[in-house]
Parts: sequence; structure tokens; C-alpha cells
Amino acid sequence: MEATLILRTYMELTLSIIKPDAVKRNLIGSINSLIEKNKIEIVAQKMIKLSIEDAQNFYNVHKERAFFDDLCNYMVSGPIVVQVLKGKNVIVKYRDLMGATNPENAEDNTIRKLHGLSVEENSVHGSDSKDNAKVEIDFFFAKREIFVI
Ligand code: CMP
Repeated sequence: MEATLILRTYMELTLSIIKPDAVKRNLIGSINSLIEKNKIEIVAQKMIKLSIEDAQNFYNVHKERAFFDDLCNYMVSGPIVVQVLKGKNVIVKYRDLMGATNPENAEDNTIRKLHGLSVEENSVHGSDSKDNAKVEIDFFFAKREIFVI
């Protein structure tokens, strides 16, 4: 049988959060500019303030971690911007653009290297897998709020 090389690129959606530290420092536009310069489309976006129950539910996977309470308290310390991003392989692509969880370890020109302050105040969140992207998008957005053509 003839061998065929199929190069697959996947159009995906992912959930992004611009966290309280970045919103407080007026960095929404700078972060959106980095997203758009990297050919990632913002197909939904809104500013909200989480309740403590929201934060605990969203980060439920980390509930046994020592930093869980601090993380939840930080995430309710001010408004956040939640977004749905669209692009080819955007889940990995956006995580690459965000950089390492600890901004000190992040590559140059990543969002966390440019703007992050600490492991906690690391400016952005992005889904880490296709399954989690779906769960996280559904957590924040109704279908009618997402503009995928
Ligand atoms: P995020 O991508 O939103 O997912 C879980 C978050 O937990 C992570 O970003 C960090 O901001 C946070 N986190 C991870 N490790 C620590 C830590 N040691 N102390 C405080 N927060 C942490």
C-alpha cells in the first residue's frame, strides 16, 4: 500500500483568563495584542469578578494542594477577563505563548516573562488539554457568547 504522509493541523478552542494582577495593572490590551500578533483569534471575551465558590469550583483539581486557598483568594481579589481563543493547535500554542507557570522560568517574549510577577500572580491561565478546554469554556460561556464562524 502506498504510504501517505498526512500533516494534520487542528482548529481548536481554548479558555484563557487574564488574571487580577494583569487587569489591575492595565495590561488587557498588551496581552490581547500578544495573542493577536501570534495569529490567535479572540472569539469571546468578558470581564467578570469570581465569587469564592466560583474560584473553588474552577480550580477544584488543585483542592488538595497547599496553595489552593491562596490561589482562590487571589483569583477573587479583583476582576478577571475570560476569553475563548481560536486557532490551529491553539491549546499548546497559547500555553507556549504564556510561558512557564513561574515567570522566572518563562522564556523571553512570553506573556508571563513580560508581565508575570510570581507563581501566583502569573497574569494568565490557559487550558492544558482538549478535554479541560471544553469544561473550562463551558464553565464561563454560553454557546451564544462564542463567535466561531
Ligand atoms: P494556572 O495556570 O492558573 O493553574 C493553576 C495555578 O496555580 C497556576 O496557574 C498558578 O498560578 C497557581 N500555582 C501553581 N503553583 C503554585 C504555588 N506553589 N503557589 C501559588 N500558586 C501556585
